[in-house]
Amino acid sequence: MTRFLWGSATAAYQCEGAWDEDGKGKSSWDVFCHSDLNNVNPVTGDVASDHYHRYEEDIRMMAEGGQNAYRFSIAWSRVVPDGTGDVNEAALEHYSRVVDTCLAHGVEPLVTLYHYDLPQTLFAAGGWENRATIDAFARYATVCFDSLGDRVSHWMTINEPGYETLCSYAIGNYPPNVRDLGRRWHAMYNLMLASASAVTAFREGGYPGRIGLVSDSYPVHTLENTPEFEQAAHFADLFQNRCVNDTAILGAFPAEFMEKIEADGTDMSFIHEGDESVLRSGTIDFLGLNVYDRFLVKPYTTGETDLRANNTGDASGENRVVVKDWFEMDEDPTTEKNPWGMEIYPAAMYEILVELRDRYSNIPVIITENGVGYRDVVENGEIHDSYRIDYLRGFIDEMQRAIGAGCDVQGYLVWSTMDLYSWINGYEKRYGLVHVDFDTLERTPKDSFVWYANHISSQGAQR
Ligand code: BG6
Repeated sequence: MTRFLWGSATAAYQCEGAWDEDGKGKSSWDVFCHSDLNNVNPVTGDVASDHYHRYEEDIRMMAEGGQNAYRFSIAWSRVVPDGTGDVNEAALEHYSRVVDTCLAHGVEPLVTLYHYDLPQTLFAAGGWENRATIDAFARYATVCFDSLGDRVSHWMTINEPGYETLCSYAIGNYPPNVRDLGRRWHAMYNLMLASASAVTAFREGGYPGRIGLVSDSYPVHTLENTPEFEQAAHFADLFQNRCVNDTAILGAFPAEFMEKIEADGTDMSFIHEGDESVLRSGTIDFLGLNVYDRFLVKPYTTGETDLRANNTGDASGENRVVVKDWFEMDEDPTTEKNPWGMEIYPAAMYEILVELRDRYSNIPVIITENGVGYRDVVENGEIHDSYRIDYLRGFIDEMQRAIGAGCDVQGYLVWSTMDLYSWINGYEKRYGLVHVDFDTLERTPKDSFVWYANHISSQGAQR
């Protein structure tokens, strides 16, 4: 029996630091964080958790905590500093050492090729709205497969084409800070083509192992059961989940989704002849699933499209989703939420897994992220994050219920391995199993780290 993967996850820009070391080029996030546009929490990932220098300590701690899997991302701007040109051998050597360190500790490395940080040269030339980025990505992916493919058996092309483009082109809080759904669909379309192109390159290269894509997916709920609410839920499912999942798993965007965005007035000229066959031949082997909460919606009533995210974690922030002619986000005032307004709803895990089982012929799934952000407090050198333990226990129980219901779940990774840069939320919003003092960079396991280690050891070889 293949062992179940129990581990945790990070992403390059959020934890590595070393933003301009060893030949690294600038990424879109390096430039954004150093600009005036970064005005909500004006901090950078220049140092972050210093994982670039401290990866050995971090991986050793994971192994000590019983974890047998580590998902991390490669910074494209380290490996190909300008996105398309020369390959930086020092970067490949670095990631090779990270992979070897994992293997030496009995930790399976799961590698994400792209997690939000685009080389700045490509970003400046139009980023994901420029089709040249698709070919550049496939080439960069091949460089990584060639370098690490003998030791890495789980690859993920893109992290969250849905959430990234939502933030970058609808909420406007990630670079390029645009609020225009038509541009969002254009960028997402190209991201899906890029993922499929990398999958094809992986297959054609005959590399061992499996390749997937990471999708943030949500069970969609309504507080009422009228036909109007059901219609809103259907539209929200297309908007949040199926535009990515159908495309990556079945090899085509849902026809209804394409018709609906066209009816919105989207300029569909981003569709080129031959794209359909690229998507069809680039379907994934497994789905990486990021599960945080459910999505509660109600019918669209009036007004223009308007999306906002609470990035302050207090009353000055607002979570708002109004998508004209599609749906609006609803709110249940009775449920528990974290300070950023994220609902604590563990059954989301069971529900989304069962939905995916039924919709996609029980495709293998690895939970590539699950976790919760809080402002943790250090008391006498200890971090008593019982709220995180409760959250993780609830979601893991629901995952195990889904496995009992026949869902093919093959791994579970906590977000995040240690505290890191929470994008536009800065450093106050902590997700780690391990606390990082961002002044001294000292690591301290939290209570949740110990709880997770005990949970893993209580499972034995079982799930
Ligand atoms: C996921 C991302 O969407 O959520 C991570 O893949 C991110 O990179 C995590 O950090 C939590 O979101 P946030 O915005 O609270 O850091």
